[in-house]
This record gives sequence, structure tokens and C-alpha cells, in this order.
Amino acid sequence: MEITLATLPNYLRQRPAMTRSFERGATFRIEEIGDGNLNTVYRVSDARHPECSIVLKHAPPYIKILGPDYPLSIERLTFEARALELYGHFASGTVPAQYDFDPKAAVIAMEDLRDAHVLRDDLINGTVDTAIAEQIGRFMGIAHSRTHVNNVGNTTAAHYKQQFANTTMQSITADYVFSFPFTEHETNFWTPGLEPEIQRLKADTDFLEQTEHLKRIFLTAQQGVTHGDLHTGSVLVQGDTAKVIDAEFAFYGPVGFDLGLFWANYLLAYFSHQDNPRIRSALKTAIWQTWQTYTTEFEMTDTELKAQTLENIFREAIGFSGLEILRRLIGAAHVKDIENILDIPQKLRAENAALQFGTTLVKQHNAFSDVAVVIAML
Ligand SMILES: Nc1ncnc2c1ncn2[C@@H]1O[C@H](COP(=O)(O)OP(=O)(O)OP(=O)(O)O)[C@@H](O)[C@H]1O
Ligand SMILES: [Mg+2]
Repeated sequence: MEITLATLPNYLRQRPAMTRSFERGATFRIEEIGDGNLNTVYRVSDARHPECSIVLKHAPPYIKILGPDYPLSIERLTFEARALELYGHFASGTVPAQYDFDPKAAVIAMEDLRDAHVLRDDLINGTVDTAIAEQIGRFMGIAHSRTHVNNVGNTTAAHYKQQFANTTMQSITADYVFSFPFTEHETNFWTPGLEPEIQRLKADTDFLEQTEHLKRIFLTAQQGVTHGDLHTGSVLVQGDTAKVIDAEFAFYGPVGFDLGLFWANYLLAYFSHQDNPRIRSALKTAIWQTWQTYTTEFEMTDTELKAQTLENIFREAIGFSGLEILRRLIGAAHVKDIENILDIPQKLRAENAALQFGTTLVKQHNAFSDVAVVIAML
């Protein structure tokens, strides 16, 4: 079933649980607020009491921006709903509250994070609040440690594996992060001038081997519930609080993937702010803080394996981080942080520096065990 602006009021009347905070018989005011590629997101308010509002996320059976010729399973929203529930359970307040979920129509009704802004936009504007990064570090630490196979035992891990067997979305990531950017693919694009570096990368057998190795980990490691798309566009900042959204890629996999994506997007912000040492320094501190709050959550678990578990997570996170940086420079989905730089020589300088750093992270990810060492290389 596909829901549109025109059919939404009728749908909501048949599903009163979604608007249970509204006055009975309320008239709905609806606006589309989503800026994403895959789904539609609406804000629905009670026309007479606009302070009463919810956000609806709907997954059409195709990729929204490409249209019905590009089908995509609506099950993606079931995984998002499960992840929201799990995160709400273990780390209450770190995600929007979920009011209702309709798997048949693929609609989630959730808390409206009013006046929230996207973390990526803050970083682009040079607003770097290290407390926000700390909160995301803690969020990841809780979600990962509470679901980690080394901490929960085999029966519970088997349950999570079954609940988060999101193979469709996982294989999209495998293609767009680990494969397409490093082959000839129609979705790749880059700033003219970056060509020689990209050719060098594509011919670097050591790099390609490490990428293959990381892809295998991404597809086979079963460690804990992984958000799967935790870049700075998946964090909304409301006042001084960070909230994580957009968990449709959630899967039971290598948890370091979340840290890697998050760090990579802070690093891309770092490379974009070439001439501002104050912002750069704050971004470095933010990366460091993420790891401190992350590990604190793991330290609380009483498994003998925790030191080794954290070491593995860290190394894999560094490798994934390198690949995320690279695919954002040459693959299908670039980031505003860099794309907003209009001066081409300046943009190329940022991209070349990011490309070099990303390549080093991929090739040497197994040699790192300390976030301070990685930061010191910047
Ligand atoms: N609970 C919420 N409260 C307020 N705004 C929200 C909420 N959820 C989503 N939004 C807004 O809608 C936008 C898109 O949401 P989301 O990222 O979940 O959609 P998506 O279609 O899955 O995006 P993508 O194509 O990036 O995967 C967010 O960037 C944010 O601006
Ligand atoms: Mg999404």
C-alpha cells in the first residue's frame, strides 16, 4: 500500500492510535518534511492545537527519489521500528519515542522532534558541541554492548540475529560503500582533478585486498545490533540533546561499522574546514570523546573478553571509517560538507587530504589501537 498526502487523512482516521494525543475528531494539518532519498516523512498536527504533532515515516515499495521503476522492500521500515524499540528500551531518550507501527502500510508514528536540526548542518556551520559526540558515543556503547554476542550469550544473540536479518539493506551498503566506488560504475562521480589519485587507488592491490577483507567482515561478522547508517545526517540535535533517527539499515553485524561511519563524517567535516584551527581542534576532541564514552559503556560489562572485544571493534571501525570517507568522495552519495565548497582548488585540497587519510586508514587499520594516535596523524 502506498500512502500519499491525499490518502493520509483517511489512513489516519482508520488508525486512531497514531494520533491518540490529538483532540477527538481533530482536523489534520499535514506537511511533508523529509529531505531523504528513500522514504516520505510527514509532520501531522492537530489543526486547532498545533502544539500537538507527530512525525510519520512511510516507506513506499520503491526508492522515493527514483520512482516505482526502482523497487525496494518495505520491510526496511520493520527493521527501523524494531531498532527504535530496542534503542528506546536500552537507551531511553536517545531516539524519538515510537507511538505506533503499521508493518502492512509501512508507517511509523513517532515523536516530533520540534525545532531539531541535523548534526551535519551544525558541523558545516562550525558549531561543534563535543557533548553531542559524547552522547552518540554513549548511545553506540549502550546499543552495542547490550546486544554484543560476547555479552548476551548465544540464545539472546540468536534472537537478535533473527530480528535484525536485514539482508536487503545490508547488500545495498555492501555495493555502495565497499564495491562500486572502487570499480567502474555509472553512479560514481568526482571533482575533475581527483582522477590521478583515484586511478592510483584502483590499482593499489594492498588497498583492494584490505577493502575486500573489510567487506567480508561487513557481510559476515555477527557481533551486535548495528544501526547501519549512523552518519551525521542521522543525528538530530534538539537543544543540547542528540537523537538518533533513520535506522532502516539496522542489522546484526560488525558494530564498529557505526563508529566508523560516525567518525568518517566528523573527519570529512574536519577536512572541509581547512582554514579554521578552532573548528578542527573541536572536531578532533569530538572524535576522541566518542571513543571515551563508548568504551565506558563496554567497561561496565563483566566479560573477560572486553579488552579484546574493544580492540577488534576499534580496528574494524578504523577500516570502515576509511572506506566511508573514500566513498563519499568518489561514490554515488557525496556529503554537503565538501560539496558546499565552491572554490574548486580549495575543494580539491580538502578532497585530496581526505582521500589520502581514508586510504591510510583502510590499509593500516589493523595497526591502530589508540584513537589518540589516529587523531595525531591529522
Ligand atoms: N522524529 C522526527 N522529528 C522531526 N523531524 C524528523 C523526524 N524524523 C525525521 N525527521 C526529518 O525528516 C528527515 C528525513 O528523515 P529520515 O532520515 O528518517 O528519512 P529517510 O527517507 O530514511 O532518509 P535517507 O534517504 O537519508 O535514508 C530528517 O532529516 C529530519 O529532517
Ligand atoms: Mg534512511
